[in-house]
Amino acid sequence: MAYSSSPCVLVLLLLLPFSLSAFVATAESHEYTPPPEKMTHLHFYFHEKYTSPEATAVLVAVPPGTNATFDTFGALIVIDDVLRDGPEESSKLIGRAQGLAAQASLEGTQILTAVNFVFTEGEYNGSTVAILGRIVPTVSPTERAIVGGSGKFRMARGYTVGNTYSFSGGYFILELDAYIIHY
Ligand SMILES: *[C@@H]1O[C@H](CO)[C@@H](O)[C@H](O)[C@H]1NC(C)=O
Ligand SMILES: *[C@@H]1O[C@H](CO)[C@@H](O)[C@H](O)[C@H]1NC(C)=O
Repeated sequence: MAYSSSPCVLVLLLLLPFSLSAFVATAESHEYTPPPEKMTHLHFYFHEKYTSPEATAVLVAVPPGTNATFDTFGALIVIDDVLRDGPEESSKLIGRAQGLAAQASLEGTQILTAVNFVFTEGEYNGSTVAILGRIVPTVSPTERAIVGGSGKFRMARGYTVGNTYSFSGGYFILELDAYIIHY
């Protein structure tokens, strides 16, 4: 009878609810109250170039045995793209988009992106948001998730909405709205 309750175990079981409530009471007295959440809306433009020497997106890996391009299934691209406050190349630099893009579709170009937006201007200088989501360059709008952040955007979540502004001559410009919930 290995599983019969000994008097000792019974006493422990009877005491358990009291010890638990004592623990909860202690926990409550040290309860963490997070500050109220804020919603920040940022509007900016993402500039990406494919041709050297000014390329901000480079193809770093392709499936073996293929003459892969950016559009080949399996292509892996690393980006250090430019974030500006306008669509012109001369618009003010406000940050970088640094991360990975993988061509993850067997049909057409559908890209998984894992990117940090690193802000370098104004009140958000030094703060980042982490983006995880899908981009189809020929389709607008594209929505991606904000899954975290740092600095002013610590604990961030939210989403970005991207609209292709132009895509020609190896130069892709995406208009972006970021809706960031953070403390
Ligand atoms: C890749 O390109 C080279 C040079 O154009 C060609 O000789 C080769 O057959 C191509 N390979 C494949 C797998 O398409
Ligand atoms: C942003 O922060 C860095 C590091 O603190 C500093 O060197 C730089 O001057 C700042 N840039 C602006 C535009 O304030």
